[in-house]
Amino acid sequence: MLIKNGNIATAFDTFKADILIENGIIKEIGKNIDYAGEVIDATDKFVLPGAIDVHTHFDLDVGIAKATDDFFTGTVAAACGGTTTIIDHIGFGPSGCHLHHQIDKYHSLAKGKAVIDYSFHGVIQHINDDILDELEKIKNEGITSIKFYMTYDYMLSDYDIYKLLEKTKELGMMITFHPENDGVIKYLKEKFRKENKLTPIYHAKSRPEECEAEAINRVLMISSIIGDVPIYVVHLSNSLALEVVKNARENGLNNVFVETCPQYLFLNEDLYNQKDGLKYIMSPPLRNKKNNDLLWEGIINDDIQVIATDHCPFNYNIEKQMGIKDFTKCPNGAPGVETRPMLIFSKGVMENKISINKFVDICSTKPAKLFGMYPKKGTIEVGSDADIIIIDTNSESKITVDNLHENIDYSPYENIKIKGKLLYTISRGEIIVKDNEFLQEKGRGQFVKREIPLL
Ligand code: URP
Ligand code: ZN
Ligand code: ZN
Repeated sequence: MLIKNGNIATAFDTFKADILIENGIIKEIGKNIDYAGEVIDATDKFVLPGAIDVHTHFDLDVGIAKATDDFFTGTVAAACGGTTTIIDHIGFGPSGCHLHHQIDKYHSLAKGKAVIDYSFHGVIQHINDDILDELEKIKNEGITSIKFYMTYDYMLSDYDIYKLLEKTKELGMMITFHPENDGVIKYLKEKFRKENKLTPIYHAKSRPEECEAEAINRVLMISSIIGDVPIYVVHLSNSLALEVVKNARENGLNNVFVETCPQYLFLNEDLYNQKDGLKYIMSPPLRNKKNNDLLWEGIINDDIQVIATDHCPFNYNIEKQMGIKDFTKCPNGAPGVETRPMLIFSKGVMENKISINKFVDICSTKPAKLFGMYPKKGTIEVGSDADIIIIDTNSESKITVDNLHENIDYSPYENIKIKGKLLYTISRGEIIVKDNEFLQEKGRGQFVKREIPLL
């Protein structure tokens, strides 16, 4: 395939050229390349690396409910939104299980279903010598990142966090974590329950910004004692938490990376007071409007490295209704795997908040580097996988659930106007999406064996 005359942008550069693709790989980039086969005319269009979403929850079983996208519907939705690779945060297994229990399970959930390339972050439920030894094995199998939680059923103690960070540093793996202070949340939930304060806004009030900031601070201080452990903060939601990261960096801590998500850039806590407030129950919760702006500033100032989604969908009319009388009974999470690239492109690039290169970096290149997939993924270079999206800047549309492929009955971004239109998603040289239609076979996605992070 030849992609002709597009405005190519990478994280570093913007230029007009043709891209020749052979066997799924970028073979040549240059001017006036002749080719007798399939040609896409990309004149006046942006030609960009496919987006990478390093935080999805396909098939996630949270006990009271199961996320409604599996690896087929979820990756079709991802592809239709311009994402060509995902890394899924795998769910917890039975108490005491070893790391491979869940990794093996997720390989079988994804294989034969995923339509774009994929990987998994391992999940830590407890620490002992066997688990620490197993980390090296999963690293050698291409799973070079792992997540721990500071709340929920399998949260780690500070003692275990120390041990784990020491080990991931030794192995050169990336540690990711869900930062929330469990004790405070537990107390506030109990208090609100006793006071019969059970509407969705109390979900937000039970998980204040300080809970997130404190948990991040604790982990960064532990990292500082050990010394510059590569650390990745998932779904950062507010500026107090970001200040903690900035302070730690100013005090000399290196290798701390921050992810935020579109929900914390576009939505705010006022939504919890609407009658459909259950749609927005997620953790961490939405914050006030000022935080939206401060997080955009964090992106502009390079304090935040990655935008991912934390895609974790539950239908509003089914699963979310479990929380109708009591927010604590509502499954946590919201969809977003399909809408992220164009939301960020529209508000970021088209409204001149960020450059096209910054867009590529934050949605594709940095995630590829931090999670060991670069330069196979995350860039347009000779030798890279031909994972490419083509965007027309002269079209506008509105997000509506009716045009999305996510397997869920709502979008938190309903009616948001999008400047620009995704024309093509190309994965390893195949057009997999054209004009919002998925064109390829179920199961064509491949597991990506990842290297250690490029810091
Ligand atoms: O509410 C959320 N974010 N659910 C998904 C699991 C997690 O904490 O990332
Ligand atoms: Zn989380
Ligand atoms: Zn998550």
